[in-house]
Amino acid sequence: MPLLIKGGRIITATDDDRADIYCESETITRIEPSIDASTLAPGTEVIDATGKLVFPGFIDPHVHVHLPFMGTNAKDDWESVSRAALAGGTTTLIEMVCPGPDDEPMAAFETWLGHAKGTAACDFTFHMSAVRFDDLAREQLREIATTRGIPSFKVFLAYKGALDLPDEHLFSLLTMAKELGVIVTAHCENAELVDAMQRALISEGKTGPEWHEPSRPECVEAEGVHHLATFAELTGAHIYTVHTSCEAAVRAGLEARARGVNIWIEAVAPHLVLDKTYAEKPDFEGAKYVMSPPLREKRNQDCLWNQLRARAISTIGTDHAPFDFKAQKTMGRDAFTKIPNGIPSVQERIDLVHTFGVRTGRLDYHAFVDACSTQAARIFGMYPRKGTIRAGSDGDIVMYDPDHERTLSVDTSLSAVDYNAYEGWKVTGRAEVVTVRGKVQAREGKFVGEQTHGRLLEREPTHF
Ligand code: URP
Ligand code: ZN
Ligand code: ZN
Repeated sequence: MPLLIKGGRIITATDDDRADIYCESETITRIEPSIDASTLAPGTEVIDATGKLVFPGFIDPHVHVHLPFMGTNAKDDWESVSRAALAGGTTTLIEMVCPGPDDEPMAAFETWLGHAKGTAACDFTFHMSAVRFDDLAREQLREIATTRGIPSFKVFLAYKGALDLPDEHLFSLLTMAKELGVIVTAHCENAELVDAMQRALISEGKTGPEWHEPSRPECVEAEGVHHLATFAELTGAHIYTVHTSCEAAVRAGLEARARGVNIWIEAVAPHLVLDKTYAEKPDFEGAKYVMSPPLREKRNQDCLWNQLRARAISTIGTDHAPFDFKAQKTMGRDAFTKIPNGIPSVQERIDLVHTFGVRTGRLDYHAFVDACSTQAARIFGMYPRKGTIRAGSDGDIVMYDPDHERTLSVDTSLSAVDYNAYEGWKVTGRAEVVTVRGKVQAREGKFVGEQTHGRLLEREPTHF
């Protein structure tokens, strides 16, 4: 059904205009000061956006859905995660494919794709993790990037013995990525240092969740960023540091950029609004706040917001990684090293950034849209199909009420996880209408759409 969004204030990464938007056959076909609804095809759905903001659909460049990890499996599936994303204004998700070191990349890709395809309610694509790099993996990763529309890899410098890629293979992978024009996203924490610190703390009887941050301090992440950047400097590969949590790591990235390294930096919502005191909550409640890199000292948040405002940090994702508190986080009651890492935020991201970034004056609306939508589309080869509002783009639109107030709670969360890390927090702003390719999929924080509407976004390499 064609769709007319009338009378809204359209805000993109660069522009701010009052205009009507008409979508037909999944695409924005007209943006004009005033479109007369009576001249349109019969049955056109008309949405009154008077007094509302109109944004391009938001993109979360870093989520985990199907995730076998630390002896358990993440709680969401594509039904719950895509509903949660849409309710919060996110219309495209990029999931990390994270196979084990013995899995073949192509089989893993098919497994991850099989979970999303035919189930997702929002659009989706993947970053393909390289957790091994023998001849077979090399050929299959090449095929996934060049023939399956997935021109972004993921590497872990962390998680020793599980996901980490040794330096020898990191060099070869980056060399191939440069040849193929594929960007390499990376979790930057030095696996050996984390392992050594964890052993030392546990042997001293420091077993609670409050010891997670000291086991992987800021310098360990900064070393990881510098390490990856050095490999990129020598290979010419384009790199993207995921969930960059602290000033030292951001500085390592900016210094690399100043040397000419093609590096992009991602922040994630939990690091922007939560700090390490949450992981220090008594009675093991801190386990809800264990993620890696860990929640940091609060002072780091100023650096993250300021570099976002300067657009030196490009994107804000979530690193949504949902593990129940009761049956999963408790696996680490005796040792923080066994607490499944992750904080779910896919539904809350936009309203958190709006409340604590835009409403506080740290970000203007253009920087907000840029970090939460446009840059992810640009960096990962989806622009201008996604990430902006212009004729020819997909009809992914968020009509947003910037003054709506509510309290976050697990009771209204559509993620399958049994807690909300932001329980009781008051936020301002809500996605009132969310469309994916011209179809209304969410209204007023609720999923109202078609479950199987989501499509795989096949992308082309752009990072030569
Ligand atoms: O704590 C996190 N970040 N869990 C998910 C896996 C990862 O490192 O991204
Ligand atoms: Zn990670
Ligand atoms: Zn992650």
